[in-house]
Amino acid sequence: MRGNLKRYRIAVIEGDGIGREVVPEGIRVLEAAARRFDFSFSWQHFAWSCETYLKTGRMMPEDGLEQIRPFDAIYLGAIGYPGVPDHVSLWGLLIPIRRGFNQYVNLRPVRLLQGITSPLRGRKPGDIDFVIVRENSEGEYSEVGGRVNRNTESDMAIQEVIFTRRACDRIITYAFELARTRRKHVTSATKSNGIVYSMPFWDERFTAISKQYPDVKADQFHIDILTAHFVAHPDWFDVVVGSNLFGDILSDLGAAVVGSMGLAPSANLNPEREYPSMFEPVHGSAPDIAGKTIANPIAQIWSGAMMLEHLGEQQAARAVESSIFNVLANGSVRTRDIGGSAGTQGMGEAIAAEVSAALIAR
Ligand code: NAI
Ligand code: MG
Repeated sequence: MRGNLKRYRIAVIEGDGIGREVVPEGIRVLEAAARRFDFSFSWQHFAWSCETYLKTGRMMPEDGLEQIRPFDAIYLGAIGYPGVPDHVSLWGLLIPIRRGFNQYVNLRPVRLLQGITSPLRGRKPGDIDFVIVRENSEGEYSEVGGRVNRNTESDMAIQEVIFTRRACDRIITYAFELARTRRKHVTSATKSNGIVYSMPFWDERFTAISKQYPDVKADQFHIDILTAHFVAHPDWFDVVVGSNLFGDILSDLGAAVVGSMGLAPSANLNPEREYPSMFEPVHGSAPDIAGKTIANPIAQIWSGAMMLEHLGEQQAARAVESSIFNVLANGSVRTRDIGGSAGTQGMGEAIAAEVSAALIAR
């Protein structure tokens, strides 16, 4: 029957730094899930990275997007390394993929798991369980602007932000739809006191869309106090929707309150499925620990579970998630960021073994 197995074609971009260490562990666990649930993967690796940039002057070939377009999904590690300016690596690879493939939703779950101690005193599993929905196509990350009088006394920079009704509406609608599958509560991140055009516009669209969801509670906070509430009252949140910049900042804060950057997964979704979606951890390439094989691969593995979910392999997705949760709850294998001494591979192997062995317990 093996000939009839469903086969998913995945474009793999390990990228830089710890991306190269955690992606193989993600693949290890996803392979275990495929074996157990009777489907298969074909992985095609694309060696696009800062190293490629230093050799060729490009992060990816000119036809890079065309090369990965036919795949069912993209599994990415992290991009960025000292020696190449961060805006060059980000705008040369990650942002072109997110925008070229209309991956306008960046979904980032924040969940305190059993076996993990939050840096917030007294918080236990169940207290922190929300999802950040980040606008991923426009906003503060825009190419409109410029530099004049470079390297003179009158040197200056102008950076414009772009907020369109279409992009605001679709991300806010996504957040409300998602809330209907959860605890029916959406919080908007704004700053309409200080930023006088784009943020009042965002608020207007939030209010308009929220009217279509009378069954979902809607509230909003300015980003400054919202960051304080993430620390003081993380239990207040269910779905948090924010612009590109606010969503990005909130997701690293979210990762920190649930214990480690190494635990935070994310999905860049093209909900209409016209293009492949991309799955990658929230964290970057972590040059400070790269090469030491101590990075926590859980964020990468959990992003893989989000990829399984998107591919329609719900049972396998649940199995990978519960295997991560079980290994953490059991506590015998832990990486250093969460108080243990296991290496990247040891953690990956423990989770893969759990996927192969355990019954789905959730
Ligand atoms: P980072 O997320 O790479 O690292 C921040 C801190 O978290 C570091 O101390 C690091 O050691 C720790 N950390 C991150 N992932 C970890 C893991 N899996 N296990 C244990 N500890 C972990 O962010 P940073 O330092 O701001 O950026 C480093 C590079 O990554 C830069 O070039 C940046 O542009 C790039 N970057 C790329 C992203 C992407 O590809 N999506 C996202 C964020 C940053
Ligand atoms: Mg970030």
